[in-house]
Amino acid sequence: MFIHKLALNFIKYYPFNYSDHKTIIGLAAGLDKNCDILSHIHKFGFAFAEVGSLTPKENKGNKPKIKRFDHSMINNLGLPNIGIDKAIPKLQKANPKIPILINISSLPNSTFQDIQNSIDKIEKYANHSCSAIVLNLSCPNIVPNIRYDMDKIDLIKVKSSKPILIKLSPYLSYNELNEIVTDAIEHNIKGYVLTNSLPIQNGGLSGRRLKDFSNASIKVINKLKTEDQIIIGCGGIETTEDILEKIYLGADYVEILTGWLLNRNPLYIHNLNKSLNNSLGDICQKIDI
Ligand SMILES: Cc1cc2nc3c(=O)[nH]c(=O)nc-3n(C[C@H](O)[C@H](O)[C@H](O)COP(=O)(O)O)c2cc1C
Repeated sequence: MFIHKLALNFIKYYPFNYSDHKTIIGLAAGLDKNCDILSHIHKFGFAFAEVGSLTPKENKGNKPKIKRFDHSMINNLGLPNIGIDKAIPKLQKANPKIPILINISSLPNSTFQDIQNSIDKIEKYANHSCSAIVLNLSCPNIVPNIRYDMDKIDLIKVKSSKPILIKLSPYLSYNELNEIVTDAIEHNIKGYVLTNSLPIQNGGLSGRRLKDFSNASIKVINKLKTEDQIIIGCGGIETTEDILEKIYLGADYVEILTGWLLNRNPLYIHNLNKSLNNSLGDICQKIDI
């Protein structure tokens, strides 16, 4: 998409640097799908960035339709990306200044071994560009009506020398979350990205209208997880209050995408960092993933 390319170039060539050392705000997956800007994204004040989703094989995705309304979006992109093999040389060349989380997603025909191989390749060839792996168990728009999280839960058995986090949907019941967390604890999963967008109209809802759904998942998972596991709260963040609400519910860090894309102010994250530091003081430490 032309506008997407324009946005990536704006980020790449943005001449100012507002990187902040004490912040907990990261960039959510979905903007840097093909690992193009991981050496540049720190300039906007992000503490860390999630790139991808990358899939084991290149994936064309759907004919894109993006609806915007009430500070929210519905997108049906369906995980378009160049695939892990083409991403590896870019990750090798990159020189990120902040921790990078690599989001890996399976396609409907991917096997467990495909995901394990993808992680092995990252570790072998691009170790310096990866601080953690995020297993995306939850794409709302790749196959309509599939209960992705529960069908893909076996993926948490993958092995990695990196911390592994899992990214979940916002619609799971208490019993499903309980089952997932029990498995995640057994397999040493480091934490949870809560949440992905909400399936609606053959797409995924993000932004303001997603916030309450994501927050409900954070609240439940916070009660079920171990103390060592972390939560990255994601969904509908626009203001400092939105971030504080997620922290209050149990998030250790947060991620943002729609709010940043719709706001279009290059100083937006920097300003959020400043007011967050005023509110949180020393709690707002440098990220440690
Ligand atoms: C245009 C767009 C593309 C996205 N692509 C991905 C993706 O490839 N992988 C993924 O795990 N999440 C993806 N997401 C979900 C976001 O990472 C995030 O979980 C969700 O949008 C909620 O955060 P937000 O309300 O701040 O946008 C995408 C979201 C949007 C809006």
